[in-house]
Amino acid sequence: MCGIVGFIGREQAAPILLEGLSRLEYRGYDSAGLAVYDREKGLQVVKAKGRLQVLRDLTDGGAKVPGTMGLGHTRWATHGAPNDENAHPQVSQSGRIAVVHNGIIENYGELKSFLEAKGVVFTSETDTEVVAQLLEFYYAGDLLDAVFKVLHRIEGAYALGIVCADEPDKLVAVRKDSPLILGYGEGFQMLASDVTAVIQYTREVCYLDDGDVAVLTPGGVQVYDSLGQPEEKERSHVDWEISAAEKGGYEHFMFKEIMEEPKALKDTISPRIRDGKVVLDDLTITREDLEGMDRFYIIACGSSYHVGMAAKYILERLLRIPVEVTLASEFRYCRPIVSEHTLALVISQSGETIDTLAAMREAKRLGARLLSIVNVVGSTIARESDDVLYTWAGPEIAVATTKAYSTQLAVIYLLAIHFAGLLGRIGPEEYRELVEQLQLLPGKAEEILKHTEEIQYYASIYFNHDSVFFIGRNIDYAVGLEGSLKLKEISYIHSEAYAAGELKHGTISLIEDGTLVVALASWNELFDKLMSNVKEVKARGADVIGIATESHKAALAALVDSALSIPDIHPMFLPSLEVIPMQLFAYYVALMRGCDIDKPRNLAKSVTVE
Ligand code: F6R
Repeated sequence: MCGIVGFIGREQAAPILLEGLSRLEYRGYDSAGLAVYDREKGLQVVKAKGRLQVLRDLTDGGAKVPGTMGLGHTRWATHGAPNDENAHPQVSQSGRIAVVHNGIIENYGELKSFLEAKGVVFTSETDTEVVAQLLEFYYAGDLLDAVFKVLHRIEGAYALGIVCADEPDKLVAVRKDSPLILGYGEGFQMLASDVTAVIQYTREVCYLDDGDVAVLTPGGVQVYDSLGQPEEKERSHVDWEISAAEKGGYEHFMFKEIMEEPKALKDTISPRIRDGKVVLDDLTITREDLEGMDRFYIIACGSSYHVGMAAKYILERLLRIPVEVTLASEFRYCRPIVSEHTLALVISQSGETIDTLAAMREAKRLGARLLSIVNVVGSTIARESDDVLYTWAGPEIAVATTKAYSTQLAVIYLLAIHFAGLLGRIGPEEYRELVEQLQLLPGKAEEILKHTEEIQYYASIYFNHDSVFFIGRNIDYAVGLEGSLKLKEISYIHSEAYAAGELKHGTISLIEDGTLVVALASWNELFDKLMSNVKEVKARGADVIGIATESHKAALAALVDSALSIPDIHPMFLPSLEVIPMQLFAYYVALMRGCDIDKPRNLAKSVTVE
């Protein structure tokens, strides 16, 4: 989604803003812009549809735009087409106030009519312009006062950056339901929608809370709460290296992040196993709390939802507690049966997905206890949860998630073992075996990654197919959902995932000569049943790629056109291994089709609008 960066200090702002925006490119955008104030030139606004490079070319890498204070923005269109006029910053009628905005102003129509009736002429179709015009309407020599007046009138979700030519010594930042952070420097201050935009300059940051308004000057920052009272904010230190957010010699972030999966798994699992026990230091849920729970709800979107689908099989099997998996965007509107006996497991890589956030707030309102699994430290979902378990995947830049998905699963395994131990659902022998097997997972993931060329070869055979079905049973079905999403989101091939037993209830009519079917057969218990489904599709002309565990590879190879294997491991942990060949397959297919792998069309990394 949109990206915001702001800078106020002594150095020329535009090159710093462009650099910051380049770090936010991964979020997905369709236009970009800058507003920089200079004493001689006043407020200069440059914006352009398309890639950031267009803006760089227009400004000679920022050199042509003097001034030491300004804002930058990458826009992912919601209100109005992606074009130069609708790009941000949006500017007030006199050209003296400029605003960048992430989120949606829900009552912008009503406010626009109000301002038009007062003679204000709008130049864009955006909801954001309303904020700029309204600020000018209320401005009477005190920017902060105008900001608070505007905040009383606007509804919706927003992170705002504001500059005013009449008060060039300050930048204003506002946050409600859309992430915004501050970066503290020596003689400069920054604001941004995500820490990646500032860590090249500073590692001291502050995560703003809903309702916060911050005034940045070169020498410092003052934050006010929603009532205008000054408040002290806690600072955080970002301890990951900038190189973690760079490609490090790889052609694409997605490939780099797949290759990082063994390390991400190890970082997520190892520190939480001590003396053969799962130790979740951050978790406050006790055995008594758990005994009081009569159901779990899993709330998530996209790939995180697919982790939830796999988690259902794992948790129900081990804990014998009913687990409902709900798409966050549906949760609020389906009158969920939630009470104080519900544990809501919230899964999100970014920790900012608005649907997930809204759903978890609803679950909380209904009495549920919130336990989130999040990758981005300090994100809103993490902060609003009763308990949070972080996935230590490091920054994930490619839009298509890979290592975050795998580490979310790893946290589910840890939780499942820990909860089963607490509840006495498994004996010491089974507990020990699960812990031992889990520790083998990073190494087994590494083994798969030694044979990427095999998957590349299969991709070269099948990349021209235009319809693909993923079939599996039990946990293989859950992994199939993710395999299918990976393929369609980055290669634009239409694909569907089906529980294999469902095929003959309708979908099999779509199977014809040359349809590609990916048969996921790692769940050994159901291997034979899955093979019956493979025979059904083969009999109708499908080309079949099969994936099974090493121990079943020969039986698989006898039936499918292309057989891939993954190392044997306890079945509960199979999803983390089985997904890797599918991530690689999607990657190579997209590569061979010439797709923009890290930034697939129409998609954003962090979805902060409903
Ligand atoms: C797909 C993908 C998305 C996200 C979804 C939820 O590759 O990344 O489907 O999984 O947008 O995002 P988070 O996990 O950040 O809440």
